[in-house]
Amino acid sequence: MFGLSKFAVALAAAVSIVPQAIAAPTELHPGNASNLIIDAQDTINGTIQGTAMAASATAASSNETLTLTVTNNIGSGVNCYVVGSDPDGGAPMILKPDFTWYYPSAPTTDIGVPQEITEDLAIPVSDSGETTITVPSYVNSARVWFAVGELKFYTVTSADGGFSVVQPSQSNPEDPSAGINWGFVEFSWLSATGVYANVSYVDFVGLPLGLSLTNTTGGVQTALGLEADAVSKVCDDLTAQAAVDGYPWDALCQSINGTVMRVLAPYDFMKANSSSGFEDYFTDYVNEVWSNFTDTPLTIDTQNTPGNVTCTVSGDILGCAGDNVNYTKPSTEDIFGCSTGPFVTSPSDTKVHQAAVPRLCAAFNRATFLLDGGNVQPSLPESDYYTTLPNNYYSKVVHKYEVDGKGYAFSYDDVNPSGSDENASGEVSSLKPKVLAITVGGPSSA
Ligand SMILES: *[C@@H]1O[C@H](CO)[C@@H](O)[C@H](O)[C@H]1NC(C)=O
Ligand SMILES: *[C@@H]1O[C@H](CO)[C@@H](O)[C@H](O)[C@H]1NC(C)=O
Ligand SMILES: *[C@@H]1O[C@H](CO)[C@@H](O)[C@H](O)[C@H]1NC(C)=O
Ligand SMILES: *[C@@H]1O[C@H](CO)[C@@H](O)[C@H](O)[C@H]1NC(C)=O
Ligand SMILES: *[C@@H]1O[C@H](CO)[C@@H](O)[C@H](O)[C@H]1NC(C)=O
Ligand SMILES: *[C@@H]1O[C@H](CO)[C@@H](O)[C@H](O)[C@H]1NC(C)=O
Ligand SMILES: *[C@@H]1O[C@H](CO)[C@@H](O)[C@H](O)[C@H]1NC(C)=O
Ligand SMILES: *[C@@H]1O[C@H](CO)[C@@H](O)[C@H](O)[C@H]1NC(C)=O
Ligand SMILES: *[C@@H]1O[C@H](CO)[C@@H](O)[C@H](O)[C@H]1NC(C)=O
Ligand SMILES: *[C@@H]1O[C@H](CO)[C@@H](O)[C@H](O)[C@H]1NC(C)=O
Ligand SMILES: *[C@@H]1O[C@H](CO)[C@@H](O)[C@H](O)[C@H]1NC(C)=O
Repeated sequence: MFGLSKFAVALAAAVSIVPQAIAAPTELHPGNASNLIIDAQDTINGTIQGTAMAASATAASSNETLTLTVTNNIGSGVNCYVVGSDPDGGAPMILKPDFTWYYPSAPTTDIGVPQEITEDLAIPVSDSGETTITVPSYVNSARVWFAVGELKFYTVTSADGGFSVVQPSQSNPEDPSAGINWGFVEFSWLSATGVYANVSYVDFVGLPLGLSLTNTTGGVQTALGLEADAVSKVCDDLTAQAAVDGYPWDALCQSINGTVMRVLAPYDFMKANSSSGFEDYFTDYVNEVWSNFTDTPLTIDTQNTPGNVTCTVSGDILGCAGDNVNYTKPSTEDIFGCSTGPFVTSPSDTKVHQAAVPRLCAAFNRATFLLDGGNVQPSLPESDYYTTLPNNYYSKVVHKYEVDGKGYAFSYDDVNPSGSDENASGEVSSLKPKVLAITVGGPSSA
């Protein structure tokens, strides 16, 4: 594919790849405690536990409460769970239906053997009208979960003497809660930083949730989330794309008994499946980009003090002036996740590297390198994103079904040209919060 024009590339992508295996939605098989996958993404870890924490911490934490209002637009059987970490000492904490915190203790099982939490932690959400939930004190690194049905949470002891609360995982088809329609917003409420909440599709799309934060003087911030039937629409579009390019986009759909519960981001899918079928998806494009920037330089606009820097390919290596690390060709998984291979970053990196990694990875996901003007990154407007294949088609279709364009669909979705007013951040925050309103099952006005 070296040296082909963008038109030839688009044509080649359209005609030369014969659909391979007929993929299908991934079938979920909800399991039990022994099927849990315990990793950093879905655990809240602590050392202080149980009643000792409950006695001292809640009283000290804060003298104010925060109101969450929930509008149910999906129907009966919805429950809410608030699961986080105590800002004073870091003990895991879960809100009870009486709006006091439950501090789980380490399980009585052996090290590494999860035990289900049997305390009643499901806060029922009314079928219609508004449900008010009171958060009685500050909470860190929390998720506010919503589920049509009940979720299962576990505790497990680790070898170092600490323990974890294990939450449901979207990327484990055997998670005990896999057969339930669920979603969550990330949430924290702290003395120093106030309320922070966000909706994000970097890992998956599930039960649509929307946010509206009102502050004490009536200012409102919103991130309305996805359309009510976004999960089936995203899945339909991915299934159509699989028929076009032969890649297993349809396998990102996670279904049970014919109902799609969630759609996984391609990085999360690849991480959990070493023969996912996506391995060579970006290979030709990466070769083309590398070949292109051998002869003509690529300009990275750092949008920071280093200004514009020039990058060129020599051999198989891309290097940028002032960068402390050169770039090998990224794999497809590196591109979808933006955090492995050449896209690893560390706090000691130069400003050039910290700016170049997000900009390079965003340009791969959006396929903007070989467009007119793509030799300056970022510079092209949103209307040019995802206009040629291959691209991160999941990200493309997730954005299509966002009510107000809010919510990142890959990790560096915040890269945009200077002067643009594009901002896909699904975050709402305030130092002076009054009410955080959450819609479940799609926005109220749609
Ligand atoms: C989990 O399910 C398997 C069968 O799928 C069963 O053999 C096992 O005993 C169950 N474990 C627990 C802890 O319930
Ligand atoms: C919590 O501890 C478990 C077991 O030691 C570990 O696998 C997991 O990565 C930790 N979670 C976080 C968020 O650090
Ligand atoms: C909470 O305590 C602080 C400091 O003691 C005080 O300034 C504030 O008014 C109190 N808030 C409420 C709602 O009582
Ligand atoms: C799927 O079908 C099985 C077998 O009929 C049933 O036990 C299970 O509850 C169903 N699950 C869902 C989520 O509908
Ligand atoms: C959402 O907020 C959490 C912290 O609560 C943060 O870790 C995460 O990166 C945020 N996601 C996005 C896409 O901004
Ligand atoms: C509330 O939000 C509005 C609009 O963003 C802002 O102008 C105002 O300063 C905020 N009020 C407080 C108390 O933070
Ligand atoms: C991995 O993905 C392929 C399709 O892309 C699928 O056929 C296969 O069953 C998956 N394997 C596992 C273990 O999920
Ligand atoms: C690089 O891409 C640009 C824009 O598509 C194109 O004009 C140019 O001919 C390409 N150069 C090479 C060497 O492929
Ligand atoms: C970087 O280059 C772009 C495109 O040539 C230009 O619009 C921008 O002003 C430049 N930035 C700086 C800081 O020179
Ligand atoms: C990057 O590659 C260039 C060209 O091969 C080389 O001169 C430079 O030393 C390399 N930089 C680093 C940080 O490895
Ligand atoms: C995008 O919006 C978020 C949330 O309102 C804000 O924190 C962030 O600074 C904005 N980014 C830009 C580049 O304006």
